[in-house]
Amino acid sequence: MFKVVGSTLAILVLLCVASLASERATAQTREGSVPTTADPAKTSRDPGDLLPTGPDSAKGGTLYRTYCSACHGANGEGRTGMYPPLKGSRVVTKDDATKHIHVVLDGLKDAKAGGVVYANPMPPFGNILSNIDIADIIDFERSSWGNHGKQVTAAQIAAQRNHSK
Ligand code: HEC
Repeated sequence: MFKVVGSTLAILVLLCVASLASERATAQTREGSVPTTADPAKTSRDPGDLLPTGPDSAKGGTLYRTYCSACHGANGEGRTGMYPPLKGSRVVTKDDATKHIHVVLDGLKDAKAGGVVYANPMPPFGNILSNIDIADIIDFERSSWGNHGKQVTAAQIAAQRNHSK
């Protein structure tokens, strides 16, 4: 009788040890997998200081196609006499992005874009798009179609938005 109880106990102890060990093993693989799967660039990111990393430039492209490409063209080529090209535009390639941000926030009319007077106005987007969305679109325009303009941050858009109020 004692023998039976003893061996049952032994089996129970063994089962316990085995399940503890496997729990510890899964906990370890979980912990061990963290540094390899987590993207440190993503976790340490400050949303106010956006850099044009993959996902955001993809988002900028999507937003451009939604809000801008109907006039400025899928490849920033514009339409002769109607809408100015953004490919090679001085406003889009200039390091100082003040004008670029201003045009998108507040729109533009009766101006000369690239030396051409356009009868059509550019609609304002300040009330439609967030600072981050505008920054993503501007960064997309500044890094597409051969443009190499200095990138902007959402904080810059916010600052200019407050300034022009
Ligand atoms: C309804 C047509 C239309 C849409 C949509 C539009 N634009 Fe424009 N955009 C214009 C016109 C027209 C001008 C020129 C206005 C002028 O010179 O008076 C212009 C000018 C500009 C300029 C200045 C270009 C230069 O070389 O001076 C920038 C930058 C610009 N648009 C960016 C954008 C962005 C970004 C979007 C999308 C968020 C957008 N536009 C959507 C019509 C449009």
